[in-house]
Amino acid sequence: MKLPSVIAIDGPAAAGKTTLAMRLADHLDYLYFDTGVMYRAATLAALRRDLDIDDETTIVDLVFTLDIDVRSPDSDSDGPMVVLLDGEDVSAELRSREVDQNVSKTAAYQQVRAQMVDRQRIIGLRSPVVMVGRDIGTVVLPDADLKLYVVASVEERARRRHTELLRKGRSDSYESVLEAMIRRDKIDAEREHGPMRAAENARVVDTTGLSADQVFEIAVQHVMDASQPEVENGS
Ligand code: DC
Repeated sequence: MKLPSVIAIDGPAAAGKTTLAMRLADHLDYLYFDTGVMYRAATLAALRRDLDIDDETTIVDLVFTLDIDVRSPDSDSDGPMVVLLDGEDVSAELRSREVDQNVSKTAAYQQVRAQMVDRQRIIGLRSPVVMVGRDIGTVVLPDADLKLYVVASVEERARRRHTELLRKGRSDSYESVLEAMIRRDKIDAEREHGPMRAAENARVVDTTGLSADQVFEIAVQHVMDASQPEVENGS
C-alpha cells in the first residue's frame, strides 16, 4: 500500500485538528506542521514592537523582515514543534491572550498570507507531512493526497478551549471564550483571502461528542481509503 504522503487537516479552532494531526503524524512517522504558529509568531513580533495590528501596511512591512521557521522538537523541547522567530525559540509565547485576540487580524492580510503560504509550501513539500490550518487543502497544498476537514459544534469547541485555559491557570469565563470563538470563526471564514472552508474533495470529520481515540480511528480509516496499491516494478 502507498499511503498518502501529504495530509491536509483544516477546520475551525478547537475542533480537534491538533490532537488528531499530532497522533496521525506520530503514527505514520510524518512531520507534524501546524501552520497557525506562523501567523501567531508574526502577531507576537508585532505586539512586542507595540505596532498597531489594525494597520495593514505596518504589519505587512514587518512580516517581510521576519525570519519565521519551524523545526521538529529535540529531546528537551516541550511542545510538538519548535517555532523560531528571528532565531529565538518563541514556542511558549504563541498562545497568550494577546496573541489569541489579535492573530485573526494578522492572518486576514493578503500579503501576510502570500508570504506565509510560500513558506508553508516549501516546508510541506520537503517530506511526508500532516499539515494543519484553515486553507491547506484549498490554497497551500490543493494537491494534497488526503484532505480532512475537522469540525465540531461551536459550543463544544468553546468548552474544550475553556477547559484548556483553566488547566493553564487562566480564569476566562466560558461565555467570553464562546464569544471570542464566534468572533474568530467569523473573521477566518469571511476574510477575502484564503478563507476557512472545506475543499471540495475534503472528507469531513465531525468530532462533536467523540473521544480523541474515536476521531483517530475515523482518520486512520480515511488514510487507508486514500491509500493506493503499490505498482510493481516492470509490470
Ligand atoms: O489554529 P490557530 O488557532 O493557531 O490559528 C491562528 C490563526 O491563524 C487563526 O485566526 C486562523 C489563522 N490561520 C490561517 O488563517 N491559516 C492557516 N493555515 C492557519 C491558521
